[in-house]
Amino acid sequence: MRQQIAAANWKMNLTLDQATRLLDEIVASPHHLQAHQKVILAVPFPYLALAKAKLSGKPNFFVAAQNCHTQSSGAFTGETSAEMLRSVGVEYVILGHSERREYFGESNAVLEEKVGMALTYGLTPVFCCGESLPVREAGTQNEYVENQLKESLFNLSEEQFLKLVIAYEPIWAIGTGKTASAAQAQEMHAHLRKVIAGRYGSGVADQIPVLYGGSVKGNNATELFSQPDVDGGLVGGASLVASDFEKIIEALK
Ligand code: 13P
Repeated sequence: MRQQIAAANWKMNLTLDQATRLLDEIVASPHHLQAHQKVILAVPFPYLALAKAKLSGKPNFFVAAQNCHTQSSGAFTGETSAEMLRSVGVEYVILGHSERREYFGESNAVLEEKVGMALTYGLTPVFCCGESLPVREAGTQNEYVENQLKESLFNLSEEQFLKLVIAYEPIWAIGTGKTASAAQAQEMHAHLRKVIAGRYGSGVADQIPVLYGGSVKGNNATELFSQPDVDGGLVGGASLVASDFEKIIEALK
């Protein structure tokens, strides 16, 4: 059975006190996760070690960073490397989030380097893709997202590719309260799986978790996650409130 994942992306939110409280609330909640179900918390860099310590007794809970650099060390003031993340026990790293692409100019080529670096240091990339509203309105979203995968991921070996988690996040649904319909999510996820099958074979495509992101909430997660090719969600706003995020965890298949 494919992994099913509820991933929180805190983005640039919460003070240390607020982060501590949210982690304590999450840790205190009873969870009934099955072996194939995981929760990943992508917290800001200053809270990675804290999150790691708080979640240490929670099986199936993992910590993620929200970015890493293309190099493992050196004179890159203000940056954080995959090697550093690994050294503090981080297991996952979000790469290619649309906010990184848009505000920090991350191209498909740069993301290919970052993915390679993450894999080199044993981190699992949660690779984000997704189209803007004009692309969706032009009806070219399938080609657009396919190209993001091809340019950043399709030089990986099969063994490397099998380590990835993919997240489809249509930009028009992020932080807007305007979620993609379950049918729209399913259609794109099935398309991504077909594209992956074309490059790596259906055996690989069937194993890769593909998450949906964009205004996932407690009241729409069950319908989204029930789609055959939707393996959970990457959640922004609703992951900042423990009770909301709990509902999303409970919606995993
Ligand atoms: P929202 O859930 O706030 O729409 O954010 C989605 C997202 O960008 C997760 O990475």
